[in-house]
Amino acid sequence: MIVERFEFYLKDGRIASVRSPEERDIQDMLDFLYKSAGETEFIIRYPEECGEYTVEKEREIIQRINKSDNEAMLVCLVDEKIVGSCVISWSNNLKTKHRASTAIVLLCEYWNLGIGTRLIQQVIKMAEENKNIIQIELSFVEGNTRARALYEKMGFKITGVKPNAIRLKDGTLLNEYAMIREIKR
Ligand SMILES: CC(C)(COP(=O)(O)OP(=O)(O)OC[C@H]1O[C@@H](n2cnc3c(N)ncnc32)[C@H](O)[C@@H]1OP(=O)(O)O)[C@@H](O)C(=O)NCCC(=O)NCCS
Repeated sequence: MIVERFEFYLKDGRIASVRSPEERDIQDMLDFLYKSAGETEFIIRYPEECGEYTVEKEREIIQRINKSDNEAMLVCLVDEKIVGSCVISWSNNLKTKHRASTAIVLLCEYWNLGIGTRLIQQVIKMAEENKNIIQIELSFVEGNTRARALYEKMGFKITGVKPNAIRLKDGTLLNEYAMIREIKR
């Protein structure tokens, strides 16, 4: 799905824009992927595991998502640079098409500026516009207090815990929490 471009102000007064990724973004997206993977333990990959993401693969992903009827990617740009991305998708299967899922990551230099809030607001709006969807699902890793605060502010509630879902390089085991945001119909 294509996300129509929109702009908003960051907490520091700068302007950010949000839109679907385009082919011209490929190198910027790859740089973003590697950088964000190295900045936080709270996403699924270490930077050295991003090797499968080549220019060609990224092109395929952008084309697939933009053409899809059940998946969208929102990239957030500040000063023409990608600083965040968020995906929302849902199933087309009869038994599960009432469920959407989402995930978000921003470069750390851009945390706490309101980007997460604006992207999650947009994802909720997109889910509300699909009459089948009654809930948005996501998860966060133990210790990610910023993500948890953001999601709770946006109406998500914890529904379960997967013990020891993540094992860091130093052996630390972390739980993963599932959350759901109901869409009122
Ligand atoms: C988690 C993440 C998406 C949040 O986005 P963000 O743009 O920083 O979030 P926002 O600025 O919109 O909002 C964050 C809120 O949490 C609050 N907050 C910040 N740090 C906090 C902390 N350590 N504990 C509790 N609350 C915190 C902020 O005050 C803000 O609330 P407010 O708007 O009511 O003041 C972003 O920090 C990020 O990409 N982190 C790394 C990757 C990641 O963790 N992704 C999520 C995986 S589940």
